[in-house]
Amino acid sequence: MIFVVRGVAWLVTGGAGYIGAHVVRALMGADLRVVVLDDLSAGRPARLPPGVPLIRADVRDRVTVRDTLVRYHVSGVIHLAALKNVAGSFDDPLGYHRGNLDTLADLLEVMVDQRTPHLVFSSTAAVYGTGDSYAEDAPTRPGSPYGRTKLAGEWLIRDVGAAAGLRHAILRFFNVAGAGAPELADTGGDNLLPRLLRATAEGGKATVHGTGHPTPDGSCVRDYVHPADIADAHVATVRALLDGDLAADTFNVSRGVGVSVLDLISAVERATGHPLPYEVGEPRAGDPPSAVADPARIRDRLGWRARRTLDDIVGSAWAATAAGLRIARQRRPHDVATTL
Ligand SMILES: NC(=O)c1ccc[n+]([C@@H]2O[C@H](COP(=O)([O-])OP(=O)(O)OC[C@H]3O[C@@H](n4cnc5c(N)ncnc54)[C@H](O)[C@@H]3O)[C@@H](O)[C@H]2O)c1
Repeated sequence: MIFVVRGVAWLVTGGAGYIGAHVVRALMGADLRVVVLDDLSAGRPARLPPGVPLIRADVRDRVTVRDTLVRYHVSGVIHLAALKNVAGSFDDPLGYHRGNLDTLADLLEVMVDQRTPHLVFSSTAAVYGTGDSYAEDAPTRPGSPYGRTKLAGEWLIRDVGAAAGLRHAILRFFNVAGAGAPELADTGGDNLLPRLLRATAEGGKATVHGTGHPTPDGSCVRDYVHPADIADAHVATVRALLDGDLAADTFNVSRGVGVSVLDLISAVERATGHPLPYEVGEPRAGDPPSAVADPARIRDRLGWRARRTLDDIVGSAWAATAAGLRIARQRRPHDVATTL
């Protein structure tokens, strides 16, 4: 089946979410037309710049998705809408498979039906699990239901893409942290950096899960990337799809720089100007000692590389946390106690 490019608007599902709001801004900055579809289960309309059409709907609402594709002459979809809590996916695997895979199947069905020619899919480092290599062709052994929903989504897209000629790019983000502006901050995640910043704000202690891992300082190592860099990678991907340079491609999107938990605590102390004491807890089952992207493919094929540093990431996350605390203090002066 041959698809016809009919328009230049891009539909961003989950565009009112943390990463989506950064992507929307970057696309607009690149003079691309954008429409957002989000059920606002975790998204916030206030994250969107004025003038962006926001369709409040579930991706599984095929009638609304079809109408949106037609009405806005959509030539491509950036599919970010998903459930993303790794721990939550163990509690509710069925909900995660429905939330992440049923949505994708419904979206693909409508896209194929409407001959929408391009798709960019948000995947994750969680598809690799614990491995020796984090290059795109490395074995995938996801250690959580969340990671498995994303890997199954990748397979589904490749199968539908091959059968229907849908041009697609799968982007595997690593640990996304920081914010392009305080109002774009991640409010739904329970990842390490927000926990360290909360511990600082509350004058508490951080917990380091194991210091006996086979890493340089014994704590786990991860690869952090700023959402504005993720957004720039989307612009590069969209341009390459529109230029016909991509057809069925998978890219890691990250800095390719390992940061240990102890390194991150030091970065938090630099950003906040406050010491952050820590205690050593039990290692967590299934936690890979080290997960650092090989970002060579996206650099070589799309000319993209991350520009923001670890201090940019932590400093922007702290600015967002501090702004949130100021607002909370103004609203509830007697309830919000912090040491800052
Ligand atoms: N944040 C990370 O570190 C990270 C890392 C790797 C991959 N990802 C992936 O990136 C994508 C975006 O993540 P995020 O951090 O911005 O999450 P987020 O929760 O902030 O954003 C997801 C958005 O999708 C919306 N949504 C969820 N289910 C929907 C549905 N069925 N229909 C319509 N809207 C729906 C939510 O309201 C929210 O606005 C996800 O696919 C996630 O799996 C995130």
